[in-house]
Amino acid sequence: MSRAPGFIVWMTGLSGAGKTTLSQALRARLAPSRPVEVLDGDEVRTWLTRGLGFSREDREENVRRIGHVARLLARHGVGVIVAAISPYRGTREEVRGLARAAGLVFLEVYLEAPLDVLIARDVKGLYKRALAGELANFTGVSDPYEPPESPEVIVHSAWEPVGVGLERVVEALRGHGR
Ligand code: ADX
Repeated sequence: MSRAPGFIVWMTGLSGAGKTTLSQALRARLAPSRPVEVLDGDEVRTWLTRGLGFSREDREENVRRIGHVARLLARHGVGVIVAAISPYRGTREEVRGLARAAGLVFLEVYLEAPLDVLIARDVKGLYKRALAGELANFTGVSDPYEPPESPEVIVHSAWEPVGVGLERVVEALRGHGR
């Protein structure tokens, strides 16, 4: 039986930028015809990386562990979608390098959205708490986010409908033979 080749689509961006939404849309789009797994920061932190916090060290550890599991899955033909803030460029590059070295397709998707839009939306109410000083080290408010310099895909989630970003990712996957 021939198996569809795996891949890793790595979604990075601020909290509330739409990583989870786009991940679910991509899963729904691809799932019937191939195995797909979503590794979502909020969920992963309940199991795989429980106990890690939001210091630089812990976030880097979180990203490295997610990257490791993503590689394990992708090399067995799973289409892996990661949704994690993954704020540090160097760690994302490290994970990309390890994936490429393993012969895997790795696409970085940057969900770009202006901070003021995210603060206005504040779906989880976390920006409000961070701005009030109740949440330390909150990405974009009191903790850094280093945007990708050359992501394979950029999605402007503040004003582009989900479907537009979705098609851009699907197109990029197709361009890489996936
Ligand atoms: S990452 O930086 O390590 O990649 P990850 O994506 O796993 O982060 O987790 C981010 C989620 O944790 C956010 O969506 C939010 O719900 C929650 N969270 C709690 N505290 C923080 C914080 N200080 N900074 C960012 N997100 C936080």
